[in-house]
Amino acid sequence: MPPPEPTASPAIEVYSLEDRRFPPPASFKADALVTGNELHEEAERDYQGFWARQAADLLTWRSEWHTICEWELPYAKWFVGGTLNAAENCLDRHLAEGRGDKIAFHWEGEPGDTRTITYAELHAEVCRFANVLKSLGVTKGDRVAIYLPMIPELPVAMLACARLGAPHSVVFGGFSSESLSDRINDADAKVLVTADGGWRRGTAVALKASADAALAATPGVEHVVVVRRTGEDVTMAEGRDQWYHDLMAEAPPDCPAEAMDAEDLLYLLYTSGTTAKPKGIMHTTGGYLTQVAFTHKFVFDLHAHTDVYWCAADIGWVTGHSYIVYGPLVNGATSVLYEGSPDHPGRDRWWDIVERYKVTILYTAPTAIRTFMKWGTAEPAAHDLSSLRVLGSVGEPINPEAWMWYREHIGGGQTPVVDTWWQTETGAIMISPLPGATTTKPGSATFPLPGITAEVVDETGRPVARGGGYLTLTQPWPSMLRGIYGDPQRYHDTYWSRFEGRYLAGDGARVDDEGYFWLLGRVDDVMNVSGHRVSTAEVESALVDHASVAESAVVGAKDDVTGQAIVAFVICKGDQEPTPELGQELRMHVGAKIGPTARPKTVIFTDDLPKTRSGKIMRRLLRDVAEGRDLGDTTTLADASVVEEIRRRAAEVPEED
Ligand code: PRX
Repeated sequence: MPPPEPTASPAIEVYSLEDRRFPPPASFKADALVTGNELHEEAERDYQGFWARQAADLLTWRSEWHTICEWELPYAKWFVGGTLNAAENCLDRHLAEGRGDKIAFHWEGEPGDTRTITYAELHAEVCRFANVLKSLGVTKGDRVAIYLPMIPELPVAMLACARLGAPHSVVFGGFSSESLSDRINDADAKVLVTADGGWRRGTAVALKASADAALAATPGVEHVVVVRRTGEDVTMAEGRDQWYHDLMAEAPPDCPAEAMDAEDLLYLLYTSGTTAKPKGIMHTTGGYLTQVAFTHKFVFDLHAHTDVYWCAADIGWVTGHSYIVYGPLVNGATSVLYEGSPDHPGRDRWWDIVERYKVTILYTAPTAIRTFMKWGTAEPAAHDLSSLRVLGSVGEPINPEAWMWYREHIGGGQTPVVDTWWQTETGAIMISPLPGATTTKPGSATFPLPGITAEVVDETGRPVARGGGYLTLTQPWPSMLRGIYGDPQRYHDTYWSRFEGRYLAGDGARVDDEGYFWLLGRVDDVMNVSGHRVSTAEVESALVDHASVAESAVVGAKDDVTGQAIVAFVICKGDQEPTPELGQELRMHVGAKIGPTARPKTVIFTDDLPKTRSGKIMRRLLRDVAEGRDLGDTTTLADASVVEEIRRRAAEVPEED
């Protein structure tokens, strides 16, 4: 792995000016689950014992573990010897305790159709679908790929897999067919669950057509189950494709849950790294469920009997896995699940949802908050948002301005805001305030949670007590990734090789004089667009795949709305004229190959790229150009005139929408 580049210093200067503080309001404290330091103190005395208590308190086990944690760096096992089933923890035990009639999901489709799903109903549908999967030959250990919009069948399919002990691999519905086939093949999935389509901004987005294109390149898939959502015409391959509703109509209702080892694989989720090939992050059962349940309960101060919780992420990302499906369901919460976009039919769709369902806890991303800021305060002000009592943020650094806007205009100027730092790899929230206990500062994720130890280190791996550096984690945590599917060497190289004995998160961070953590963004070649990780290498290889492109370099440049925007520097092949039309075509090409999130905002044509003498592209300089800054250190640049030429070209390019 190349050494990470230094973090941008302007962010540090801005943050250090921040001296606003928000202690939890007395009215919030009065009813909060945690108001003091007790959990942190307990975990400091014995962090493994602390997690064992959570595992016992929050989950139902089939059999006890004999060892809390086995730590053979870089591999951890938690609750060794214990057995349990994730679906049973999410469903059956609530039924057993008389809560079958409680609402699990208030689902709302984008066109306005709704479904209210109780725990008993969800349980019934999951059992039936588990039987469907069984009838298709799925058994414990088989991988199942899921490519669905945000409809109830998505959590149903995940939980049905968990019930059988078949790891699921959910692929975000916005990904292209090529991304889907890569992921299906890497996981060697034998069944795919998809839909005819989903609704997005009033139009039906075809999913089955995209799945069909993927399936042409996935010989291992034996069966495809198709949910009818939009009613569009689809092609059904004889003998391979079957309708969900047809299969469900014939499936028996009872399906016992498999007893799974705490360390059995619960799911794979692919995430971008510094090469074009995405990493299949592995999450197992006991430790993962313990930490997602703990964090969902305490970070959001969940009062399961009264709260209406809404995580507005897509289930296709880890946020949705942990905080729409597993955490809330283990905790018996009532959640909102919304299919579509925030501006359909109007820009007040979210606030209308909050008002109608009386949402009390809202969890979203800075990119959404900044979009709402751009749209103005009239929309939220026109709705009664007084039910909200906790606001969460995740996915990228939240700038203090957006944090303040969120608190003020969505939270009525008094709702605690919890900025939660974590990653696909960490599985659950790692650094965050506890809303009834922590005094927050706008833009800071504050402190590592109880049972978590994070340290910022310098280039040499020495801890930095105060100041900036690389964020590392120094002790195993229950929901940590157990590796990269099929690639142990990459697991070792990516996370454990830079600093001995430390997990490298790949993020820059600063610790202030009071020990607060301020996250500063990625330090490696991974961009963060609207809270989604996109690797520069993946976009570059999509660009070079176009017949007119000889070479390309891609960087993430600061963007007011999406956090970072993708700027592509492109060298055309000999006879190809660089035209604005070609720029547009390349953007579409990347969108089609990887998905709309990865589409460059700007394409800048150039004759050359700045490289070191060893031929490595100097992205730092390109970032300077893309963000319009003076050039940083150019001493290792092979030909200094290249950047000036690129800068001249960049000034001529209009930004795309
Ligand atoms: O750079 C950090 C940023 O998102 C990355 C993880 O992305 P992903 O695996 O897709 O998971 C996103 C949802 C957990 C991190 O390495 N990130 C996430 N949360 C924050 C954040 N950056 C700053 N502050 C946060 N609260």
